[in-house]
Amino acid sequence: MCGIIGVLGNHEAAPILVEGLKRLEYRGYDSAGIATVNGGTLGRRRAVGKLVNLSDVLVHDPLAGKSGIGHTRWATHGAPTVDNAHPHRAGSVAVVHNGIIENYKELRAELTAKGLAFTTETDTETVALLTESYLRDGLTPVAAAAETIKRLHGAFALAFLFDGEQDLMIAARQGSPLAIGHGVGEMFVGSDAIALAPFTDQVTYLEEGDFAVLTRNSIEIQDRNGTLANREKRQIQLDMARIEKDGHKHFMAKEIAEQPTAIDRALVEYLGQDNTITLPENLDFTQVERLTLVACGTGYYSCLVAKYWFEQIARMPVEVDVASEFRYREPPISPDTLALFVSQSGETADTLAALRYTDGKAKQIVGLVNVPESSIARESDVVLPIKAGPEISVASTKAFTCQLTVLLLMALKAAEVRGQSLPDNVLDDIRALPGLVHQAIAAENNIQAVARDLASARDVIFLGRGALYPIALEGALKLKELSYIHAEGYASGELKHGPIALIDETVPVVVLAPRDALFEKTVSNMQEVMARGGKVILVTDAEGARVASDGVSETIIMPALPDVLAPVLYAIPAQQIAYFTAVAKGTDVDQPRNLAKSVTVE
Ligand code: M6R
Repeated sequence: MCGIIGVLGNHEAAPILVEGLKRLEYRGYDSAGIATVNGGTLGRRRAVGKLVNLSDVLVHDPLAGKSGIGHTRWATHGAPTVDNAHPHRAGSVAVVHNGIIENYKELRAELTAKGLAFTTETDTETVALLTESYLRDGLTPVAAAAETIKRLHGAFALAFLFDGEQDLMIAARQGSPLAIGHGVGEMFVGSDAIALAPFTDQVTYLEEGDFAVLTRNSIEIQDRNGTLANREKRQIQLDMARIEKDGHKHFMAKEIAEQPTAIDRALVEYLGQDNTITLPENLDFTQVERLTLVACGTGYYSCLVAKYWFEQIARMPVEVDVASEFRYREPPISPDTLALFVSQSGETADTLAALRYTDGKAKQIVGLVNVPESSIARESDVVLPIKAGPEISVASTKAFTCQLTVLLLMALKAAEVRGQSLPDNVLDDIRALPGLVHQAIAAENNIQAVARDLASARDVIFLGRGALYPIALEGALKLKELSYIHAEGYASGELKHGPIALIDETVPVVVLAPRDALFEKTVSNMQEVMARGGKVILVTDAEGARVASDGVSETIIMPALPDVLAPVLYAIPAQQIAYFTAVAKGTDVDQPRNLAKSVTVE
């Protein structure tokens, strides 16, 4: 969480920093700030709330200078106030930080004893004060920053700027991502390549423990042992430079609408015209006894759906874990385990830590990511990009359906190489997915009416059976994060074991029930809800609606389709229900409160 940007440039830094921060705002939006060096003097501006507030401050109180650092914050230590906003300054150093300094209390005590005064509640101020104390001891800026880094425990990406130093920036990384952008006579620093895309397409990713000394024309990187390191310069895709809503009211609406194209891209990547599934050559399902799938949030629900596919189609035993629990449980990992980590951003700290736990234990580490240059991608033995394209809205949509598409192809490939027969015509059926998703999106008008009703609910329940159960969980997560309505997803058959006590006429129940082999059972569970006054919103196909709509408040009709594809398609109404409910409630759709897109702290 938190986004950082820096520039040693030939033009005014403030507009560059604000443009970079705009692209990083998905990482946090509690407060924002910039600092520059102008005529050798450090100055800074900060504001609470969205970036637009900082822009307002800069209109009334501009900040000149061609060297600068900027930050958009997701608060960890200390409330979102101007004082706690980055950059943090102590004497002649200013610092921006993404991550958590775990030993900040000890450092704070040490610095306080030395007579240095703290003015914020943040862990980051410790970094600025420690550097300042080394400067006072007579160290150079580079040496002071290097000594400071040696004292820090925890996760950080840091950029330092110094009074009197127009052509110097220090960048350091441990646990949080950081990239250097190479311009012509200019140098940039950013939390990701998307932030740097408007300024350069030449990027170097810092590795764990790297310490970089930047000037406009040079970069010197030392690795964690202090040895000079040669890090590759890569060319990033130019489409990253375009982050626009394209006429949609929100990025989320745009990203929902993009799903047919995104899924098609994933299919083109992995499914040949002759229906051959081509996965990376080194991905080996043959000698695998067990699959361990690990992710957070929406990615976790992709994994839960994949469990049904891998077990039913490939007949492989599968375990699924939330990443934040995984490594602390210390699960035994046998050498015949294939460990798969699913992450849109590829930077989620919990997932990355889980990956590192399995490193050296599992047969192979596979990363399923949307950002091919991400940390998870770089630390995996095998990488499968999901091809969703940049996802900006905090609520994940197209990444989810692309994850599902690639996971389904993986399960089918695993079945093939392990001698299991595939469901009839499944590969031809998959080709129909983009068109079916397009039709599902077109059902949105009915969903808008449903959403207007849901907007006044206090609690909402989502039900699904089989591989639709994780979609019920995903529907509830989307509704919670976007509209702040309490929502829970349950396996339909589980309702009677407790949660049914919640049902009355004030609790809408969304039932995801394609007309599949389990349909009759789900309908029975739905009847149990209606018998207790519960208001049912049934999402089904035309045949399901014909036989089961009696007594139901609203029916949302999906195209009929083979059972195996239903989780992908039924994700669409789940997303749209959340989206339109949030719009009806007037909440901040793309940047819901308290959240950030990329969660780089544990
Ligand atoms: O980037 P990741 O896929 O690793 O992110 C995991 C979760 O933080 C993410 O899916 C989160 O749950 C979304 N906001 C859900 O919409």
